[in-house]
Amino acid sequence: MTRINVTVDGVSNADDVEPRMLLVHYLREVVGKVGTVVGCDTSNCGACTVHLDGRSVKSCNVLAVQADGHEVTTIEGLASNGELHPMQAAFHENHALQCGYCTPGMIMQAVDLLRENPDPSEEEIRVGLEGNLCRCTGYHNIVKAVAAAAGTMSSERSNA
Ligand code: FES
Ligand code: FES
Repeated sequence: MTRINVTVDGVSNADDVEPRMLLVHYLREVVGKVGTVVGCDTSNCGACTVHLDGRSVKSCNVLAVQADGHEVTTIEGLASNGELHPMQAAFHENHALQCGYCTPGMIMQAVDLLRENPDPSEEEIRVGLEGNLCRCTGYHNIVKAVAAAAGTMSSERSNA
């Protein structure tokens, strides 16, 4: 066992884990952040995407010990003061999900996409999300939601 210290959604955690434990399993089984889901376990689907020090990573592709001393944000840490993050609200308003299985990872990836490119074209959104698979929606409303969130977030910035 190896002792790791990881801040998850703003809360410090000190845990003993097997060196081979994946970050996604640490988040779900040890910290209890079950909003992050496992789709493929082979870094193909993006369902397990979280932020590691603010950058999106597929958490089935990272060992828990690699997060030692770092900050992780999951879908459960995205809302603040009881208010949905603008990306979460945009997915809701644009009906950008059906079964919802891909949604946590899709939202975390989309937030990181806007961090790098606050005003992406439709094509740039599609390219930015291509590592995240959805089996339900055909992507149209997901792309619409990300564009809508980009608009909301840019007007929030100009009003700040
Ligand atoms: S579960 Fe991690 S990419 Fe599919
Ligand atoms: S909404 Fe079902 S997998 Fe995307």
